[in-house]
Amino acid sequence: MTFNSKIFRTSTFRLAAIYLIFFAFSVSAVLAYVYWNTVGILERQTDETIRAEVQGLSDQYRLLSLAGVVDVLQRRIDEGAGSIYLLANARNEQVIGNIDKLPASASGEPGWVDFPIVVGRPPKQQNHTGRAYHAPLPGGYTLLVGRDVEEQRLFGKTIRQAVSWALALALVLGLGGGWVLSRNFLRRVDAITDTSRTIMAGDLTRRMPVSGSDDELDRLAQSLNDMLGQIERLMAGMKEVSSNVAHDLRTPLTRMRARIESALRTEDDATHKQALEKTLEDSDRLLGTFNALLSIARAEAGHSREGLAETDAASIVHEVAELYEPIVEDAGGTLTLDVDASIPVKADRQLLAQALSNLLDNALKYGVVDEGEATAVTVTAKAVDGKAVITVSDRGHGIAVADRTRVLDRFVRLDESRNKPGNGLGLSLVSSVMKLHGGSLTLGDAAPGLLATLELPLLPDSKTA
Ligand SMILES: Nc1ncnc2c1ncn2[C@@H]1O[C@H](COP(=O)(O)OP(=O)(O)OP(=O)(O)O)[C@@H](O)[C@H]1O
Ligand SMILES: [Mg+2]
Repeated sequence: MTFNSKIFRTSTFRLAAIYLIFFAFSVSAVLAYVYWNTVGILERQTDETIRAEVQGLSDQYRLLSLAGVVDVLQRRIDEGAGSIYLLANARNEQVIGNIDKLPASASGEPGWVDFPIVVGRPPKQQNHTGRAYHAPLPGGYTLLVGRDVEEQRLFGKTIRQAVSWALALALVLGLGGGWVLSRNFLRRVDAITDTSRTIMAGDLTRRMPVSGSDDELDRLAQSLNDMLGQIERLMAGMKEVSSNVAHDLRTPLTRMRARIESALRTEDDATHKQALEKTLEDSDRLLGTFNALLSIARAEAGHSREGLAETDAASIVHEVAELYEPIVEDAGGTLTLDVDASIPVKADRQLLAQALSNLLDNALKYGVVDEGEATAVTVTAKAVDGKAVITVSDRGHGIAVADRTRVLDRFVRLDESRNKPGNGLGLSLVSSVMKLHGGSLTLGDAAPGLLATLELPLLPDSKTA
């Protein structure tokens, strides 16, 4: 019983029921119209003919007197054709006619009577229904003209039966259809509910069943599955990051501990001082790693999306370039700029500047083929096709095509750069920052060297040429 009442409570069943009510109304209207136009028309036509005949006979009575009308009636009776005639005198005795006397209800005012008649000769006699109009004639006579309407009655009955069956069938089909539809709907909703229970119980690999019909339930299941996929990826990422963090912090912390321990064993002030200085360096590096991780987490959480403000990317590029120019020049290198006058974007100034700094930092670290060579870094920033495009290129070894996606992951450093300081977090941050801005980071070939391209949407009211 609970199963059944559950079906009646589904929205599908309710919809089907409402639809059914409207459907039943319109079907009834159509059938009523059909009835009115078949049976109704026949009845009205018969009545009109009878009325006309009564009128004609009354006129003839007045013109031809009784004998004339009796003549006419006799001729009509002889013709047969299913008509009923009776001319009765004041004592209700037949003057002429094919029935013996007036039906009991036919007296007084002119009007219609329906009465039983017997047709055929024995033994093939049948009971039929007759319908007649009776009207008094001057001299106490009564004239009755009617028809055998048995066939019409049967026809009406057949039509009424057909109409009722059609209605009943429509109702049964509608109810049955609604029930089947709701049962299917319910079954699929139950499957989705069951799956979510299993997922909540901890099995994140489970997915909602998709029937493949691409209906609204399928689309719901599909988006739930996409969401689950995203959650699973995020959880996996989190696990990986925590294990990476643990691994990457253990080495410097162990080193610091060993150094402090050995320094404590000596009384030499110079050794103490040196150990403290090294420890300070190490803790700075650790803090740097933490800050980078926090920035990435912040960018990835997307919570600073509300922190995006309309700003000029060109000015950010100039600011960062100004910071790096002395460093490049000290190293004997050159920093070339090619920046549009104004590049309006929606951005977090600090994060975008950090991303650009990371790219410049890499260009300085890895931008030469041989140690001691002079670096040549080029930075361009343009507004093209509704996008702000910022590039940083150097003349180093670049990154092999196979490694270009991998280096965007956290803590990934390529073998050839092991001798340079770093955590492998720089490009991860750039990539998360670009995702936060609805843009992208692409690594390409500057032939020779790395060409890093940042793209983010340009504000529509761009005034750039
Ligand atoms: N301009 C470049 N040319 C050649 N290799 C590069 C360049 N930029 C990055 N790489 C390679 O990609 C790796 C990842 O770079 P990323 O900036 O993420 O980390 P990192 O520079 O090693 O450390 P961090 O930036 O955290 O101090 C680098 O270790 C290096 O191997
Ligand atoms: Mg870097």
